[in-house]
Amino acid sequence: MAGDAKRQIEQLRKELRRHDYLYYVLNQPEIGDQKYDRLFAELKALEKANPRFITPDSPTQRVSGQPLEGFASVRHAVPMLSMDNTYNAEELRAFDERVRRQLGSQDYDYVVELKIDGLAISLRYERGVLVTAATRGDGEVGDDVTANVRTIKAVPLVLFGDGNIPDVLEVRGEVYMPTRSFVELNKARAEAGEAVFANPRNAAAGSLKLLDARVTASRNLSFLAYSVGELSEPLAENHYQSLQRFKELGLPINPNIKRAKDIDEVINICLSWSGKQKTLSYQIDGMVIKINRFEQRDILGATGRAPRWCISYKFPAEQAETVVESIDVQVGKSGILTPVANLTPVQ
Ligand code: IVH
Repeated sequence: MAGDAKRQIEQLRKELRRHDYLYYVLNQPEIGDQKYDRLFAELKALEKANPRFITPDSPTQRVSGQPLEGFASVRHAVPMLSMDNTYNAEELRAFDERVRRQLGSQDYDYVVELKIDGLAISLRYERGVLVTAATRGDGEVGDDVTANVRTIKAVPLVLFGDGNIPDVLEVRGEVYMPTRSFVELNKARAEAGEAVFANPRNAAAGSLKLLDARVTASRNLSFLAYSVGELSEPLAENHYQSLQRFKELGLPINPNIKRAKDIDEVINICLSWSGKQKTLSYQIDGMVIKINRFEQRDILGATGRAPRWCISYKFPAEQAETVVESIDVQVGKSGILTPVANLTPVQ
């Protein structure tokens, strides 16, 4: 009966979403691939027999059929800024000094994260449903890569709700390609006589900028959430809490996130990761240090291109000597001049 089919379809979707959550967010799967594939096939068959019950948020509808002609532009409601870099403990202390000076007598704490080497993406959820995914672009306007991002299984098509999801929730994070997938992809490409990707970041970016989402779906991309963009209501009062909220909503976060009460702790955490990158299944190119409280972030504000409340720390292996070939001066919207050095590329 139709009512039964509808109920069964909804039940299966709920079950599959729960298993996605257990796998991608909690890292605690309860069933193996085979059992998962069986549930998926069951849902697919039921939907095929009852096409009027197919909805875009169904786990079976991640991959769309038709290639796109091109990417539409998306203006970011909140700009996606870049980050300033530090290269040693001394520069981290100088960053902390600047923060202390600006915050005066206030106490503050930090959150320290891995800097995942992929590409930044902004996911827009409206009433808990993924509506748009956009690349960073120039920070103000990016490309609409929704069809491609929908194929990434770590990205939930609908958020887990306790009835408490902001109407508009923009989640920012990194799309990346695990090292093993990158090696396998390059091997296959080399065998087929195709150009190989220089690194997992290029492979992830290249895979996300394909017009045919079916190819993106075959690329094994993943996603980790690390900040918020536009919000219709506050999610939390500090960053660490907002990451815990992400988790409750079904958004995967990096398990290696640490709070630090002062810059000494920050430095210890950063140094403890140096040389340990190889233990991870994906590549990182440093650490990201962020002021925890949103109120204090507002006080600190941003320079033209980067917030003053966060900084990256680059591992020594990521440093190399090169030559400044020339310097361009870019003119920003507000007339601010930004000198940009053109460097000889290094691997
Ligand atoms: S927070 C204002 N957290 O690094 C920028 N970024 O060099 C706030 N990235 O465009 C970004 N891991 O693509 C943040 N845990 C992390 C990150 C991270 C990687 C990337 C991101 C950003 C770039 C800046």
